[in-house]
Amino acid sequence: MAAPHPAAVVAGIGAWLPPDVVTNHDLSARMDTTDAWIRQRTGIRRRHIASPGTAASDLAVEAGRRALESAGLRTVDMVVLTTTTPDKPCPATAPAVAARLGMEGVPAFDVAAVCSGFLYALATSAGLIAAGTADHVLVIATEVYSAIIDPADRGTAVVFGDGAGAVVLRRGDPDEWGALGAFVLGSDGVHEDLIQVPAGGSRQRKSGLPPGPGDEFFRMRGKEVFRHAVQRMTTACRQATLAAGWEPDRVDRLAAHQANARILTAVSERLGLAGDQPLSNIEQVGNIGAASLPVLLAHSAERGELKPGHHLLLTAFGGGLTWGATTLVWPQL
Ligand code: COA
Repeated sequence: MAAPHPAAVVAGIGAWLPPDVVTNHDLSARMDTTDAWIRQRTGIRRRHIASPGTAASDLAVEAGRRALESAGLRTVDMVVLTTTTPDKPCPATAPAVAARLGMEGVPAFDVAAVCSGFLYALATSAGLIAAGTADHVLVIATEVYSAIIDPADRGTAVVFGDGAGAVVLRRGDPDEWGALGAFVLGSDGVHEDLIQVPAGGSRQRKSGLPPGPGDEFFRMRGKEVFRHAVQRMTTACRQATLAAGWEPDRVDRLAAHQANARILTAVSERLGLAGDQPLSNIEQVGNIGAASLPVLLAHSAERGELKPGHHLLLTAFGGGLTWGATTLVWPQL
């Protein structure tokens, strides 16, 4: 029988949030919303916001450095970064981050899948490890949503925050703790308009028309996205547990993209998980896009809610539409 592919094993983790905090009360002082509405409809109380001049790469460097330290490494042989808010439309953000982490010459590139970006970046990196292209990969998810949020749009301004998270993956054995399981990934571009930044890309530029008012901002049709998010994450989770050979009651913790506390409840109820299983930090950080999952993992491990040996189900959903899920047993880091 052919030997199984080498697995990608989580060997280090790090997170970084910019220090400035915006509370619901701060937002209600500047737009037509209330702390009560935001808490009840989203579960969010506060979010961290990058100060003017702080870009996605700045947060990425901080998170990446912490993940490398956690893995006991100074360098890796690949840097894969994911973001919805790159420093510039061109080039990718990853090479600059790699260079600032002292890894000039190391291959570095970006993966784009909006809020599912971390899972897509993990899957890409696991493939590179399985193919023998890399032994150690630094995967960084970083977001400065405050750069693209319309400050007057209460449907998004109350939801999104900034931050970065990172993991180091190493080549390892599929049976060891930390080994990423099979990836379930999907997309449905029919609904690309549910989450988008309409202007700034080749479509708007080549149209010869100037951007419409506010077209440079992030737009989300929240109610419709909510429905898709619950449905897609639930199905992806079922497929990932099946691929891992886990019964639903084998799952100790659900780590789902922190889009909305009500989405977390809906997904975990549909999966039949106990109330203490979904990990959550949305109250403190809001929705930080692709960075949501690695920051959640870092915070949950720090707080002792995620322990070595826990059977963990990871899932995300975002613009594209895109979604994904995978499994792992949380390692001793
Ligand atoms: N404060 C007060 N009222 C608000 C508000 C705010 N910040 N935002 C919207 N409202 C109002 C609306 O105007 C609407 O009023 P109306 O009934 O008089 O028309 C009402 O609240 C309900 O709006 P709706 O958009 O239906 O709210 P919602 O309960 O769907 O919550 C989101 C909005 C964005 C929080 C929610 O839809 C959501 O989380 N969507 C999913 C996001 C997601 O999964 N993203 C994944 C990829 S990032």
